[in-house]
Amino acid sequence: MSDLLALDGVCTNYGKIRILRDVSLTVGEGEVVALLGLNGAGKTTTMRSILGLTPPLAGTVKYAGQNITGWPAYRVARLGVGYVPEGRRMFKDLTTLENLQLAENGRGGAWTIPRVFEHLPKLAELRGRKAGRLSGGEQEMLAIGRALVANPHLLLVDEPSQGLAPLIVEDVYRILGELKHTGVAILIVEQNALLALKIADRAYVLDSGRIVHSGAAAELAADRDRIRMLMGLDVAAAGT
Ligand SMILES: Nc1ncnc2c1ncn2[C@@H]1O[C@H](COP(=O)(O)OP(=O)(O)O)[C@@H](O)[C@H]1O
Ligand SMILES: [Mg+2]
Repeated sequence: MSDLLALDGVCTNYGKIRILRDVSLTVGEGEVVALLGLNGAGKTTTMRSILGLTPPLAGTVKYAGQNITGWPAYRVARLGVGYVPEGRRMFKDLTTLENLQLAENGRGGAWTIPRVFEHLPKLAELRGRKAGRLSGGEQEMLAIGRALVANPHLLLVDEPSQGLAPLIVEDVYRILGELKHTGVAILIVEQNALLALKIADRAYVLDSGRIVHSGAAAELAADRDRIRMLMGLDVAAAGT
């Protein structure tokens, strides 16, 4: 599998404080990769480093073989990288449909608003509702829909389960699983390891800004002791 995304030796600071230390990871075409780690491990900073929101101080970010290190976010997005940020960040006064319309970038592609409504029928029902009045789960689906209408080849998804009730988390993950079958590559950040491992092909674990584990998702999912060692007891117990 050829690498769609490749980080090599990425070091990223906030001010003088080093957050990411020598982070290397890859996502292949159509592959789903989980980036796991406890709160504060550097998962969001990794996404921000890829998107040029917090440019790396050292190391390289390559997309489809091209060095895009530190490129501004709009240019990275134009290459086909979609982002579903932590906390969703909708335009709260705009309706579901208006949020989707704003996200369409006119590049064309398979994902249109009608197709998003087909895959996420709940959003079709809520097309006229203001985003600020949607539940957390509905907002997460809108955030995914919004990323899709830009027709990404790679989707960066930051903590989709955060703050959602378990049943809704299942829905969100079902949709991410479906996306996988449409050929979109996904880098998914999660604190809830077992959840992300269910749909991922491979996984990395971050601890204090360093990659401390990488391997097949199924292997890690089957090794609760390992997860406990890497991420603590609560995480290993969650989702069982
Ligand atoms: N804007 C910021 N300024 C300074 N430090 C930050 C900022 N954002 C995050 N951090 C720190 O960077 C570390 C990693 O944060 P983050 O990447 O958000 O972790 P995660 O997403 O894994 O929870 C944490 O110690 C956090 O406190
Ligand atoms: Mg985070």
